[in-house]
Amino acid sequence: MSDFYALVPAAGSGSRMGNDLPKQYLPLAGRPLIFHALNTLCACPDIATVFVVLAPGDTLFHSYDWSRFGDKLQPLYCGGATRAESVTNGLLASELEPDDWVLVHDAARPCLTQAHLAKLILELRDDAVGGILAVPVADTLKRADDQQRIACTEEREGLWQAQTPQMFRAGLLAQALGNAKKFTDEAAAVEALGLKPKLVLSESGNFKVTYPQDLLLAELLLQQGKEI
Ligand code: C5P
Repeated sequence: MSDFYALVPAAGSGSRMGNDLPKQYLPLAGRPLIFHALNTLCACPDIATVFVVLAPGDTLFHSYDWSRFGDKLQPLYCGGATRAESVTNGLLASELEPDDWVLVHDAARPCLTQAHLAKLILELRDDAVGGILAVPVADTLKRADDQQRIACTEEREGLWQAQTPQMFRAGLLAQALGNAKKFTDEAAAVEALGLKPKLVLSESGNFKVTYPQDLLLAELLLQQGKEI
């Protein structure tokens, strides 16, 4: 039987936050941002190990106390220039079996709930391809021209917003990311192989902290939903 592992790419700088401190270390509810995602993943009984992929020169991770997670949390100092490179390097360093499931989750999605994690695993554990948490697009979408005027309104029907975790077998994912193309998420790499990852319905609360005001919203959600 294959096992489940989590891999958290956390080697980005998070420049859109307008802060010198890398995004994953910004304070949120009294902890660094990344703590919250690691806390949820480490508490999941199905997951054997949580690998966190850090920049090779990262000096901050070890300045925090991670002892509560014990051996379940494994830092890997092999992050790359892009998120896809960080995931590729992490997969290689983690030495997983090709059939092992790996759940790739952004360090910057602190409000992932145990319920959504369990749902993702349950819906995909017997799937041939794998899939992702996602939500149907709620807003009307406009395509801009080069004058920042509306060129057209995009059909919203059938459009979903991709979230993480994105759950694939380690061998398939390594093969997919090995394609030299540019991918912004793992699913895009798997799609490029001609496969169709499944969309597992999530909620908008599992958003990615991208702009400064997102921290405030995340803090409110964490206060409501979780023990910190
Ligand atoms: O910058 P963005 O929010 O899209 O990053 C998504 C996730 O990918 C974050 O957890 C970030 O730390 C990670 N990342 C990485 N290596 C990079 C760029 C981003 O691990 N070179």
